[in-house]
Amino acid sequence: MNFGDKELFELASYLESKREQINTYLDQCLQDVPGSSRLVAAMRYSLMAGGKRLRPLLCLAGAEAVGGKPENFISTACALEMIHTYSLIHDDLPAMDNDDLRRGKPACHIAFDEATATLAGDALLTMAFQTLSSIEHIDKHYALKWLSVLNRISRAAGYQGMIEGQMRDIDAESTPLNRDALEKLHQLKTGALIEASVYCGGFLGGGSREQLDRLQTYAGCIGLAFQVKDDVLNVEGDPAILGKEVGTDEIRKKSTYPSIIGLEPSKSFARQLVNRAIQALESFNHRSDPLRAIAEYIIERQR
Ligand code: IPE
Ligand code: IPE
Ligand code: MG
Ligand code: MG
Repeated sequence: MNFGDKELFELASYLESKREQINTYLDQCLQDVPGSSRLVAAMRYSLMAGGKRLRPLLCLAGAEAVGGKPENFISTACALEMIHTYSLIHDDLPAMDNDDLRRGKPACHIAFDEATATLAGDALLTMAFQTLSSIEHIDKHYALKWLSVLNRISRAAGYQGMIEGQMRDIDAESTPLNRDALEKLHQLKTGALIEASVYCGGFLGGGSREQLDRLQTYAGCIGLAFQVKDDVLNVEGDPAILGKEVGTDEIRKKSTYPSIIGLEPSKSFARQLVNRAIQALESFNHRSDPLRAIAEYIIERQR
């Protein structure tokens, strides 16, 4: 597919309108949260700090690609963003990456304090599962499908997915990795939640087994491409655009794609992965254009 100016413009407006729906929904979720105002303020601070909303966008675009109605799955999409935001709050804590800047603003533990940031992360994680299991959102005929979505997201976010990835990432600060081990780490740390986002959209949207398999291939490729691009941006990104520090991987002696295969080969590898992702969608119709465009965006992005 050729991405001329027209397609890029359409992507921009598609992303904008979907982001608006996501932000409105997230904002409403937090207005409904009773309790300590400092806790809710910290949750809101990080959740509404201007993330790209990639995971919810992928969930909605996954539903769209198989002919589903994305607007029916906004709660699922937003739950994925709650999990992602919690992971960033904890990732920045002094005991983990000790980063002060996130989404262009002081990290949650800097704007508040470590204890509040830890609790805000915990609360966002549990709010995600509260949202996913909230029966007002669920069409009763599909209750079993939603149970399976809950299971899929729990696995992706937990000890068999993102958390194991974070553990390996910390361990790797003192042990250099080979390329296979790094790929597995990236797949767990970042890929698992991205894959679950696309899959759950496709699954809830009514995708066939074959379509879901193709979506899985697409998601595996863009998940890895996303993290390779993240590594590249950590080397040559502009912190003012990126909204977080750069050069930190090298300082911490982290194994990354640029450190193992070099900067330019990392960029070519990310491009190959995106091509492979788009190829996996060959048999899909124009309703998968948002997924194709998001794949391109993942490696073109500067933030
Ligand atoms: C950053 O994720 C952390 C990684 C998993 C590499 P994003 O780049 O999606 O961050 P936001 O949500 O846009 O801030
Ligand atoms: C963050 O990974 C991934 C998760 C929080 C699961 P990184 O530590 O590599 O990403 P940044 O650079 O802080 O966004
Ligand atoms: Mg980290
Ligand atoms: Mg980090």
